[in-house]
Amino acid sequence: MPAPHLGTHSPPGGAPEPTSDVSPWADLATPLTFAYWVPNVSGGLVISEVEQRTDWGIDYNRTLARTAERLGFEYALTQTRYQASYGASQQHEATSFSLALLLATEKLRVISAVHPGMWHPGVLAKFINTADQLSGGRAAVNIVSGWLKDEFTGFGLPWLEHDERYARTEEFIRALRGLWTEEDYRQFGRHYAIDGVTLRPGPVDVPGRPHPDVFFGGNSTAAQAAAGRVADWYFSNGRSLEGYRDNVAGVVAAAESGERTAPARPRFGINGFVIARATEEEAHAQLREIVGRAHRPAVEGFRASVRQAGQSTGDGKGMWADSSFEDLVQYNDGFKTGLIGTDDQIAARIVEFKKQGVNLLLTAYLHFQEELTHFGEEIIPRVRRLEAQLAADHGVEFAPAGD
Ligand SMILES: Cc1cc2nc3c(=O)[nH]c(=O)nc-3n(C[C@H](O)[C@H](O)[C@H](O)COP(=O)(O)O)c2cc1C
Repeated sequence: MPAPHLGTHSPPGGAPEPTSDVSPWADLATPLTFAYWVPNVSGGLVISEVEQRTDWGIDYNRTLARTAERLGFEYALTQTRYQASYGASQQHEATSFSLALLLATEKLRVISAVHPGMWHPGVLAKFINTADQLSGGRAAVNIVSGWLKDEFTGFGLPWLEHDERYARTEEFIRALRGLWTEEDYRQFGRHYAIDGVTLRPGPVDVPGRPHPDVFFGGNSTAAQAAAGRVADWYFSNGRSLEGYRDNVAGVVAAAESGERTAPARPRFGINGFVIARATEEEAHAQLREIVGRAHRPAVEGFRASVRQAGQSTGDGKGMWADSSFEDLVQYNDGFKTGLIGTDDQIAARIVEFKKQGVNLLLTAYLHFQEELTHFGEEIIPRVRRLEAQLAADHGVEFAPAGD
């Protein structure tokens, strides 16, 4: 059943009435949230020698962030990478880069990816408290459990087995939340010991936000279960509509069986690589060019690194486990989401994902500045019209963005 704090597609005041094409977990009353990947590593978001008019430097990123917030994007996600992989030979550190973007913007919330194995939760909670204070309550985190073994062993840090990484992540998130919301906080587990700690100042008191948002990225059964129990937001890589239904069901099942406190379950985000062109043919020709000019050794190297992260799981459901060479050219499986075509086709496809339970779309582009601008000016308004129509068709009151 849908969580009570979320809108449903049932008539106001009536019992939830799932229809055949709308998931019982879809929130038709609330506008979709839009986010974008911060290009904070070199080489763009596809592993290809195709031209990418995207820059990983701070000046380009400041302009991009300001454009995004002006056009209605609510979040930006900075990735964390300590060493070269998938051709990203240069990488800016995520938390410091995120803080720079927070200081360059006024409304945008910036999500910094962090690995539990690299940080003590108390140190991160303290860092985020300061970033939150400096930005008027706009700091957020994406907790990523790690797949690149060399990043850990290279620093002399333990490389845990797959499911144990998620056990650690769960402890880490509980600790963050405790340190952000309680005084004299205590927590003793397998990975962390916190003995009577009060962090001051805490995060900014933002109405409707109990503490900085905790996003969580992962695909495997262990990832879905942990996210269901402790995350505010569950992020998946690019997926087909059918694949996404499975992810949502797995996370909701974990949330319902766990000892969660409010919110009753995470909200859902999905990654998608957007190729919007004047015609469908042009969009697909662009995809063919990206894949045709893939940097083969880098894609194969990436595939070798992620094999242990995904296929080593007991049930083979890890991220990338079923990804083809073509899929991996966008290293977060963004082509699978199918946001490739005309503006109208892409807007309609996005709303199909909303019907499957998606609350947030995380976007990436070949030429970030110009294509994100196009997305904000042309596609978001189309999505808003379709969302309003969808809500009306189901007798749901739709709250326009910004209300
Ligand atoms: C939206 C999203 C963003 C991610 N960002 C990062 C990142 O910045 N750094 C990283 O090492 N892993 C990142 N990951 C990878 C996951 O944390 C995880 O390691 C990966 O899904 C493999 O685990 P699994 O097989 O259990 O799904 C991200 C995943 C998603 C879905």
